[in-house]
Amino acid sequence: MNLVEKIKKKASEEYKKIVLPESYEERTLKAANIAIGEKIAQIILIGEKEEIEKNASRLGLNNISKATIINPYHHENKENYVDLMVQLRAHKGLSREEAFKLVVDPLVLATLMIRNGDADGELAGADNATGDVLRPAFQFVGTKPGISVVSGAFIMILKDQEFGEDGILVFADCAVNPNPDEQQLAEIALSTAHTTKAIAGFDPRIAMLSFSTRGSAKHELVDKVLNATRIAQKADPSLDIDGELQLDAALVESVGLKKAKGSKIAGKANVLIFPDLQSGNIAYKMVERLAHATAFGPVLQGIAAPINDLSRGCTVENIVNMVAVTALQAAGIDK
Ligand code: ACO
Repeated sequence: MNLVEKIKKKASEEYKKIVLPESYEERTLKAANIAIGEKIAQIILIGEKEEIEKNASRLGLNNISKATIINPYHHENKENYVDLMVQLRAHKGLSREEAFKLVVDPLVLATLMIRNGDADGELAGADNATGDVLRPAFQFVGTKPGISVVSGAFIMILKDQEFGEDGILVFADCAVNPNPDEQQLAEIALSTAHTTKAIAGFDPRIAMLSFSTRGSAKHELVDKVLNATRIAQKADPSLDIDGELQLDAALVESVGLKKAKGSKIAGKANVLIFPDLQSGNIAYKMVERLAHATAFGPVLQGIAAPINDLSRGCTVENIVNMVAVTALQAAGIDK
C-alpha cells in the first residue's frame, strides 16, 4: 500500500466531519463526491441546497445527496456563531452588526463550525487565495498551545527512491510565512517534525537549509538559519536536526561527508526546512514540475484544528487526498 492509500484508509477508519466551504466550485464538488463514495470522511457543504444539487446532477455526481448542506443565510446556529465571533474578536473591535455580515461568508462560517465543534476540519483554497482562507482560521480557530506561527508543509513523493525516506521528503514552510525570524523558523522545524511523524509516518531527520554549510559563508541570512537550528534543538533535544546546510550537503551522502563531517543529518535528511517562503514555495513547485514529483499539501501545521489550504491550480485528486489528510489531522487532535 502506498502512502496515499495508507492515509485514505486511516482517514476512513476515523470518518471525521470535513467542511468544504467552496461548494459551488466544480473540482471541489467532484472531490466531495469521491470522498463520500470512498467513505474517507463525512462531508459538509455550504450553500443553497437546490443549487448544489443542480450542479451535482449536471455533473452526474450521485453521492452529493449524502452530504450535509448548510445554507449560510438560514441555519439554526447562526445566532450562536455571531455570539461566538463577537466573543472571540471583541478585543479587535468586531461589532455584532459586522459579525452578522461576516457570518454568511462560507470561509468564515466553516471556521466557526469548527470552533463550535460542529465540524472536525476544513479544506478550501481551490477558489480563494491563501490569505482569504487563512485569515478567518487565524481569527476564529487560532494556533495550538505553545505555537505562535502557522506554517505549511508539503509531503513530496519523488519518482525514484534515491533521496529522503525511500523517495519521500517533507518540505516547509512552502505556504504561509514570507520571512520568518529565527524563533519562527525554529517553530516551523518543530511543527514539521510533528507533521512528518503524524502524516508521512516516519521519524524526521531535519536539515535547516541555507546557501552555506557549517560556516562556509558569513552572512546575517546564514546566522538566522544557524540560530533557528539552535533554538529548535534546545526546545526539543531529542530532535534529529542540523544546520545550516546546503541542499546537496543535506541530501547527497558523499557531499554531506565532505562538507559536514560527523553530521547525523548531512546526506540523510528527509525533512527540508527552507529559510523563507520565496525559497520554500519555489522549491516545492520546481520539484513538482521538473522532477514530476507528487506534492501533497500544503498541510497546515500549528492551527488548533485542521484547516488546509489548496493551491488554486489543484486537481480533483489533490482535493480528495487533502480531505484524507485533514481527516487524519482531525483524528490526531482528538487523541
Ligand atoms: N500564524 C499565526 N497567526 C498569524 C500568522 C501565522 N503565520 N500570520 C498572521 N497571523 C495572524 C495575525 O497575528 C493576526 O491576528 P490578529 O488579527 O488576532 O491580530 C491575523 O492573523 C491577521 O493578520 P494580518 O496581519 O491581517 O494577516 P497578514 O496580512 O499577515 O496575512 C497571511 C497573513 C495571509 C498568511 C500572509 O502572511 C500571506 O499572504 N502569506 C503568504 C501566503 C501565500 O501567498 N502563499 C503562497 C501561495 S500558497 C501555495 O502555493 C500552495
